[in-house]
Amino acid sequence: MNILVTGGAGFIGSNFIRLLLEGSDDVVVNFDLLTYAGNLGNLAGCEDDPRYRFIRGDVRDRSQVRAALTGHRIEAVVHFAAESHVDRSVEGPEVFVTTNVLGTEILLEESRAAGVGRFVMVSTDEVYGSLGPEGAFTESTPLAPNSPYSASKAAADLLCRAFFKTFDFPVLITRCSNNYGPYQFPEKLIPLMIANALEDKPLPVYGDGQNVRDWLHVRDHCRAVDLVLRRGTPGGIYNIGGCNELKNLDLVRLLVDRLGKSRDLITFVSDRPGHDRRYAIDAGKIMAELGWAPTVTFAEGLSGTIEWYLANGAWLEQVRSGLYTAYYERLYGAGGRYGREEDRA
Ligand code: NAD
Ligand code: DAU
Repeated sequence: MNILVTGGAGFIGSNFIRLLLEGSDDVVVNFDLLTYAGNLGNLAGCEDDPRYRFIRGDVRDRSQVRAALTGHRIEAVVHFAAESHVDRSVEGPEVFVTTNVLGTEILLEESRAAGVGRFVMVSTDEVYGSLGPEGAFTESTPLAPNSPYSASKAAADLLCRAFFKTFDFPVLITRCSNNYGPYQFPEKLIPLMIANALEDKPLPVYGDGQNVRDWLHVRDHCRAVDLVLRRGTPGGIYNIGGCNELKNLDLVRLLVDRLGKSRDLITFVSDRPGHDRRYAIDAGKIMAELGWAPTVTFAEGLSGTIEWYLANGAWLEQVRSGLYTAYYERLYGAGGRYGREEDRA
């Protein structure tokens, strides 16, 4: 198959491309704008594979999308490209609407016109909103997104549904919980805490730290997306999750302990506006229908992730240079939304 992977230079997209190149005969075209989150360094070693091509392109640019689809005779699309960070969507929602909603709509229209036979939309469990202390999201849980990020993903997710219902376009939707693993940009919880702890910098925990996330190793997410791509039922929605719920504070303590650092680094800061309290995924459908199950235990996944960041200091250094510093200061520095109370006084 000739597969177009959008957002393939990001965290999950790059892990997915590695999986495809290792385990299939497919031709992989990576279509990525290389925003702050996109990094060709995430694909080091893949460039020489004759089945791999890179196109720097914007999903909001119809002519670029069309040229990529037709120029490479694309048969399947896996759509990861997005603005993906909730805190950034609180700072500036507009780009979330243009990239995540309009970009998805353009990709759907052009893919349909190009005769694409499978279109996987990588949505998120955040479209369901927040859970109370009990229960888990199923594929029929009503959508109730709470951040501009999750609202834009829900809009994109529903556009995919509409293209299936209206045009019989073979869309498949995945809704996964929180991923962790190598190449994750250090604005997200786990790599941010590792990077700060290594420098003995404060570890900013939002609110009371009791929010719960369901963590899944990125490799297991990629395996699930690959299964959905090949064997999922068109029009189907597939929840993906790790059955691995953790409170943020417990997770940060675990990281600090594993790194041999002091728990005194943990600093409680203002809560994220609209902060979802708990996510938990019922992944029974993909397990029963496609035989998927997580393979990486959290203990080994977390150890491997810590080791990866320790061994890849140059990668971390490179992605944290330039604009990252300005972002970090804006949010976490004195006077920032997540700046410490004492710094604000
Ligand atoms: P990421 O931010 O690491 O990567 C996003 C990629 O998209 C980057 O390479 C970026 O350059 C590219 N991109 C952004 N705007 C673009 C545009 N206009 N045109 C082309 N490319 C563009 O994100 P991630 O964490 O790898 O997430 C990938 C996808 O998976 C997203 O759609 C996200 O909503 C979804 N998802 C993420 C998680 C998670 O835990 N990270 C969980 C479930 C679903
Ligand atoms: O659930 C899937 C989603 O997971 C994806 O759709 C998103 O793209 C991805 O970013 C992620 O969203 P979260 O908001 O859950 O991830 P994040 O790593 O930003 O935060 C995880 C939890 O940790 C959340 O409760 C907020 C908290 N947090 C985060 C940061 C960055 C902190 O307490 N301190 C921090 O500095």
